[in-house]
Formats: sequence, structure tokens, C-alpha cells
Amino acid sequence: MTRAAETSGSLLCFDVDRVREDFPVLHQKIRDRDLVYLDNAATTQKPQTVIDAISRYYGQQNANIHRGVHYLSQEATFAYERARARIRLFLNAAANAEIIFVRGTTEGINLVAHSYGGSNLKENDEIVISHTEHHSNIIPWQLLCARTGAILRVVPVDDDGQFLLEEYAALLNDRTRIVAVAHASNALGTINPVREIARLAHDRGAVVVVDGAQGVPHLPVDVRDLDCDFYAFSGHKVFGPTGVGILYGRKSLIDAMPPYEGGGSMIKTVSFEETTYADLPAKFEAGTPHIAGGIALESAIDYVTALGPERIAAYETTLLEYAIDLLSEIDGLRLIGAAPKRDRIGDRVGVISFVMEAAHPHDIGTILDTEGVAVRAGHHCAQPAMARFGVPATVRASLAFYNTHEEIDALAAGLRKVNEVFGG
Ligand code: ALA
Repeated sequence: MTRAAETSGSLLCFDVDRVREDFPVLHQKIRDRDLVYLDNAATTQKPQTVIDAISRYYGQQNANIHRGVHYLSQEATFAYERARARIRLFLNAAANAEIIFVRGTTEGINLVAHSYGGSNLKENDEIVISHTEHHSNIIPWQLLCARTGAILRVVPVDDDGQFLLEEYAALLNDRTRIVAVAHASNALGTINPVREIARLAHDRGAVVVVDGAQGVPHLPVDVRDLDCDFYAFSGHKVFGPTGVGILYGRKSLIDAMPPYEGGGSMIKTVSFEETTYADLPAKFEAGTPHIAGGIALESAIDYVTALGPERIAAYETTLLEYAIDLLSEIDGLRLIGAAPKRDRIGDRVGVISFVMEAAHPHDIGTILDTEGVAVRAGHHCAQPAMARFGVPATVRASLAFYNTHEEIDALAAGLRKVNEVFGG
């Protein structure tokens, strides 16, 4: 079923005013205007339950984990490992051992590039990415190519920013070892056909790495259904804390992979002659982690689960349709990438990139800020995607389930003001 078709049934009982009460940061004036927070692709706001989980950890539970026999250490360890188990269920991974705590999507992808890539790739092997990747799903592979002599191949996208499956299939060959794609583009909002991408990659014996930074906040994610080998996401983009994220890795692969970083917690025995490594997932978790972050990430996942990823996607689709209709009426505004057509709405998440004839994106962002509207202006850490559409930068309004149709009105009003100020 498409997301649009799911919308009507899934929207029953979605009370956005009630949801907003859970997010204290949203209830404030910015420059004497109600805050309209539309920079959710950069980072999301936190519900009170997440804030409380962090406060509770430091106020009542603070101890190091996996190393103490004392009560607090055991409490903290229990809470941290419960979070891992919760996240496994959320992603539908097969085992807790497949859930590795990392700092965020960026570290997750770098871990795969270093550990899997470093031990499996050789000169002239190929890595395939798409043209619209975030820099964190480009540069780790460039660094891997520099170390190993592997070659980076890039799948083109069409004028709507859609991943071109036929061109992708034609790029694959027996030297393809890794395919790395975003679940959804942070710059354009386009959802990539990950299941089909994985099927074709596996036919060639390649592994599939998914940058899920914009997938998990907007879409139901089931790593076994997607059949990806690695899936990385960031806590702070899914209503959790910064500095913590998850790398899912297929057990048969991560079992065989060498450690990424050395240090405490990731060993069985250490001597100067020989060190043996801990079992999964500890092998990849050297040093004291962001304990409060991991525990609070569970609260964030609980929050999202209670709302329901399908209902979130359906509600955001109504916002997206409304925004596209409204923005399309603004003089001189050009939507970039993902098709503004209704029949393609199911191919994108709530990320809207655009430029205006009247002003540079940074000036638009500044005018909007005077109206209390927070958006991101720039290249969104996706310079090749900008180059594909012939622009150095865009304005990006990115949605979350706590946004309202009135906030989209405020965005549109701010953009009309841009035209008044700059004479567009
Ligand atoms: N990756 C984040 C963004 O897209 C920072 O804004």
C-alpha cells in the first residue's frame, strides 16, 4: 500500500496539539513570534520523556556500565542493555548482538568502511553510492578507496531526484563489493527503493549499507524486510539525544569483522603478546559510551512507537501535500528534486528543498528567522546533490509530526515577505 493510500485510515486519533504538549521547546517566542521549527532534518526536538530520562540517569543512576559489581553500575548496565533490546525490536533485527551503539550515523558508516571495507576490499573492487548522498555517505568510501585502491561508482538520479534503478543495475558487476545509499535523501527528501537496491546488490554478492538518518524519523523501518546488511541512524534525528546512534549489522558479517577502535570493554584478554576480543556487540564498543544517551534513546523510540511510524508517515504526508501546494503558488519559487506531483508523494519524506529568484537561500533563511521560522539554508552536507540540480544551496524546510498546517502557512507567509523585501 502506498503512503498516500494509508493516510486516511492511519490518521484517526492523531492529535497534533496533544503531541505538541510533550515538546517543551516548541512553546516559546522567537523574536516575538511563535517558534515555527522546520529544521527537523538537521535535528529534532525532544519530548519531555527523553529529557526526563537524561535527567534521571544523571540524577539517580549515574555509574559506568559493564564493569561494576555495585548496585548503581548494575542498574545503569541493565537500563543501557534494555535500550539495546528495545532498539532491536524497533528495527526488527534478529538479535541484540546486531545492535551497536555508535555516536551517530556518521560513525556507523565510518565503522563499516573501516572494518568491513578495510578487511574485504582490494584494488579495483567497486563501491556504489548515489548522486544525492550526504557527505557522511560519500567521504568514508572515498577514504576507503584511497586506502585500498577500490573505485567509487555513482548512480545518477533523474530530475525529480529519483534513484535510477536501471542505471544502477547496469553499474553493478562482479567487482561490486559495497552498495551504500540513503533510505531517504536529507537534501531532497526522496525515498530510495532500498529493498530493490539490496536485491540487485545481493545478486552480485555485494553488501548493502543504508544511511537511515532520514529514514527512521519518517518511515517504518524493518531491517529484515529491507534485507540490508547494515543500517545506521542518529538518535538526535529521531527525537533522542545528540552523540548517540545505532549501527545495525547482520550478525554473520559483523562477527567476522575486525574491531574498529581498541580500548576498554571490547576485549576478552589482553597481554603484550596477544589480545583477544569480546563477543558482539562489545567488540565494536570501545570505551565508556554515551550511557545517558543510549538510555534516553530508548525513551525516544518508545515515544515514536507509541505514536506509530505509519501514523507519523501518514500525518506528515498531509503536511507535505499542503506545503507543496502552498509553496508552488509563490512567485519565483522553484522546488528542487523530489517531484512536487501528487502521484509521487509516496516517494518522499517531509523534506522540501527550494530556491527563489528573489534572494539567496541564506537571505531567505534570515528573513524567515525574523518571522520565527527556523529552516536550514545551504548545501545540507550534500554538495554533489546541489551540483546535480545546478544550485550551490537551497532553503530546506523539514517536517516532523509535531508540525502543523498553520506552521506551513507561516512558512508561506514568510516566503511572500521575502518577495516583498527583495522585490521578487
Ligand atoms: N545532516 C544534517 C542535515 O541534513 C545535519 O541538516
